[in-house]
Amino acid sequence: MKKIFTLVGLTVLLSGCGDKVDPRVAQEKLRHSPGFSEARRVCSQCHALPDPGQHPPAAWPSVVARMESYVRGSNKRPPTDAEREALIGYFQSNSTWK
Ligand code: HEC
Repeated sequence: MKKIFTLVGLTVLLSGCGDKVDPRVAQEKLRHSPGFSEARRVCSQCHALPDPGQHPPAAWPSVVARMESYVRGSNKRPPTDAEREALIGYFQSNSTWK
């Protein structure tokens, strides 16, 4: 009986992925997006570069503002105005959470 449940679970899991983009293709697309290099430079100083889909576009400016408050209390480099604008654009335009 256990085996049947495992099989059903696996089928549900696999079919759920059917309409998703290949993660390697998605990664490659992100790498070529405007603002990616700024985001990588500024936002991977303390942790891995976050996925733009973690927040809806409208939420990214306040997330970035909170991160800048952490930067102020650290020895990390804050973004320049141009970098901030570019990286917020990167997270907003690549957010899959519409
Ligand atoms: C000075 C270190 C530091 C830098 C630089 C930094 N972060 Fe963070 N980040 C943190 C810490 C500490 C946490 C965990 C605490 C929290 O969630 O507020 C975190 C958590 C996060 C999270 C998960 C929590 C959430 O709100 O979803 C996201 C997303 C994030 N950071 C985005 C960014 C972005 C975007 C940048 C670039 C602008 C950035 N971080 C730069 C320190 C940093």
